[in-house]
Amino acid sequence: MKRIYLDHAATTPTHPDVLAAMQPFFSDKFGNPSSIHSFGRETRSAIENARGKVADLLGAKPEEIVFTSGGTEANNFALHGIAYANEEKGSHIITSAIEHHAILQPCKFLESRGFKVTYLPVDKHGSVDPEDVRKAITDKTILVSIMQANNEVGTIEPVEEIAGMVRGTRGEGRNVYFHTDAVQTVGQVEVNVDKLGVDLLSLSGHKFYGPKGVGALFIRKGTRMVPFLRGGEQENNRRASTENVPGIVGLGKACELAKNELDSRIRHLTPLRDKLIKGIMNKIPDVVLNGHPDQRLPKNVDISVKGIEGESMLLNLEMEGVAVSTGSACSSGTTEPSHVLMAIGLSHELAHGSLRFTLGRLTTESDIIYVLDVFPGIVEKLRKMSPTYKKGG
Ligand SMILES: Cc1ncc(COP(=O)(O)O)c(C=O)c1O
Repeated sequence: MKRIYLDHAATTPTHPDVLAAMQPFFSDKFGNPSSIHSFGRETRSAIENARGKVADLLGAKPEEIVFTSGGTEANNFALHGIAYANEEKGSHIITSAIEHHAILQPCKFLESRGFKVTYLPVDKHGSVDPEDVRKAITDKTILVSIMQANNEVGTIEPVEEIAGMVRGTRGEGRNVYFHTDAVQTVGQVEVNVDKLGVDLLSLSGHKFYGPKGVGALFIRKGTRMVPFLRGGEQENNRRASTENVPGIVGLGKACELAKNELDSRIRHLTPLRDKLIKGIMNKIPDVVLNGHPDQRLPKNVDISVKGIEGESMLLNLEMEGVAVSTGSACSSGTTEPSHVLMAIGLSHELAHGSLRFTLGRLTTESDIIYVLDVFPGIVEKLRKMSPTYKKGG
């Protein structure tokens, strides 16, 4: 049976060129980058080469890039690193209600350690209002962390505006840092740290055709941070532990490819996304598009279908060979609807009927046509069995 993967926000297949670049670093080129002999020098130079590529994609300086084990670690590093280095200046952090758990959980932990966290609401499209950020800043605020794009509903946040506003509050002894979780945007849309005006930015390799288990945190020069892992002197004393050399080399290659292919990726995905949205809206009654109508990731189609469960649609699509994801019954195995769908104000019924399609570089028009062929029948079948569904009701 045909298998169609439409879950690229969860992870992406490693690009063959990334794999080829990594391969030698599992065997022939195995030296510890901290060793001073030629084996070590070989892997050290591979790491620095990769660092240059990550920096190049982001418009950063190589020394502003710290490699991590992924997006989760980069986010934890940003929050803890800033919180503990600046606590004598203040203990207030601002974030949004729709951040990934890799932001929300460390925020909860910091709250348990005496920090105060403000969780800003979003509008029905999932957008944070920069004015809300401005109002929330106090003389105790040390960090604002707002994601560049949401992983579920695909909304791209006005990060440039928020960062500019945060910068505007600096001075007279106050220094509020701005972090963005760019895990869903790097390699998908333009991400330039100077244009965005951010101090810290997290990314993750496996979301843009790099390997899993590797990511990076951009830390603007001059930012006061404590190290995340203490031990050896790796990563300029900011993140101890022998480096994941194959992973870092792969991440570098993924960044190089992203830089070269970014425009063509966007040009490829946008019409496919729009075809899928239009097709679903035309063929199926009582469906809503979640997220922003135009400020959305080129890969993201997130919908809620009235009267039926996202899980049932997912399983039926799976039987037709199509892999997608849903916003309820998420990773934790609970049937609670996601905090993101609740924050945009969906009813429990609509939140439970959500489905996320995320497209990728290998998605074809015939994949979209196939989904538009099988999906309306699935919805119709499930609605016939639904005790709650009433057309237009
Ligand atoms: C917005 C966002 N932040 C952070 C993460 C965590 O990244 P990683 O899987 O590399 O730890 C994800 C992964 O789903 C994400 O979508």
